[in-house]
Amino acid sequence: MAPLMRNRSPNNVPNELNVEYYRQRASAGLIISEATAITEQGQGYSNVPGIYTDEAVEGWQNVTRAVHEAGGKIFCQLQHVGRISHKSLQPFGDPPVAPSAIQAKAKSFVVYSDGTSDFIETSLPRHLKPFEISGIIEDYRRAAARTLEAGFDGVEIHAANGYLIDQFLRSSSNQRTDLYGGPLENRARFMFDIVGCISREIGPGRTAIRLSPVAPSNDVHDERPQALYNYIASQLSAYDLAYVHIVEGATGGDRTYQQGPEPFDYAEMRETYYRTDGSGAWMVNNGYDRPLAIEALEKERADLICFGRPFIANPDLVRRLRINAPLNALDQRTLFGGDAKGYTDYPVLGG
Ligand SMILES: Cc1cc2nc3c(=O)[nH]c(=O)nc-3n(C[C@H](O)[C@H](O)[C@H](O)COP(=O)(O)O)c2cc1C
Repeated sequence: MAPLMRNRSPNNVPNELNVEYYRQRASAGLIISEATAITEQGQGYSNVPGIYTDEAVEGWQNVTRAVHEAGGKIFCQLQHVGRISHKSLQPFGDPPVAPSAIQAKAKSFVVYSDGTSDFIETSLPRHLKPFEISGIIEDYRRAAARTLEAGFDGVEIHAANGYLIDQFLRSSSNQRTDLYGGPLENRARFMFDIVGCISREIGPGRTAIRLSPVAPSNDVHDERPQALYNYIASQLSAYDLAYVHIVEGATGGDRTYQQGPEPFDYAEMRETYYRTDGSGAWMVNNGYDRPLAIEALEKERADLICFGRPFIANPDLVRRLRINAPLNALDQRTLFGGDAKGYTDYPVLGG
């Protein structure tokens, strides 16, 4: 089950409704939690859960216990949004932070005190000073340690969809001239610092990463995605990660979307992810249905298929796929924010 932000955790603390939602979906081989903020600064949307307070850790303990009792496994997707935020969500109303002070053409989601909500323009960010970068890497380490306290089976580092790590990776959002900017090796440094520190903290077998090599989400772009992501894959080989998770094409949109004239070659990227013991699990996502998933596995394009929207509408998706049963339709109006409607009230087969 893909990471899916649902904005139903007021005060950034997972609650009983969230417990029920994840419990219902525990038959997924692996649940990846919704993006979970490592710090208040890492938050870009209202009512998303964090993992930086004791209350949030306790809230997550209830979620992970319920999933484990129902026989499931759950990783925590750790998130720092970088510039994809609004001042009103930041500590002291400060501007959000980014590799460079470039505003994204992107929206944040806010819920007001009267309960109404809106998608609003993200704020102009300020660029991170070098000492702050090491501080954020330490924030990631601390958050990873807390995921174990919270009972998670591991961590998925969110390096996709134009959030902070991706803002460092892609040339359009990173104009730094220090060790964290310029050549692609430098732009990837922040990500590798985080992969290194989290895998040392919780063990590489509990550490995974999500990448979206060509996705334009949140206004990021790179001139040479193939070179960048082949390099990333080759360097990731040195870690013993649980899996590498690739969003193919534009997240939630066209699977064949490309940045630049050349179609992105995912097989080539995978080949550069070279693991001598053959254990490098490759997870793919975006627009998969039953036939496409079966084809990807049969052709050995991937080891794991990750489903997002189908899991929102079908808590018993695994059973339905197994017996080729029809799927419930997704209600687009209840994706972000709200209550049990469109969250925990989707019917199961025979239920
Ligand atoms: C409501 C919603 C929330 C999402 N939240 C996240 C998130 O928190 N983290 C993330 O990496 N991707 C997020 N995504 C992207 C999904 O994980 C997934 O990549 C996308 O839905 C495409 O997969 P699908 O076709 O199986 O739905 C979200 C998508 C949707 C529809």
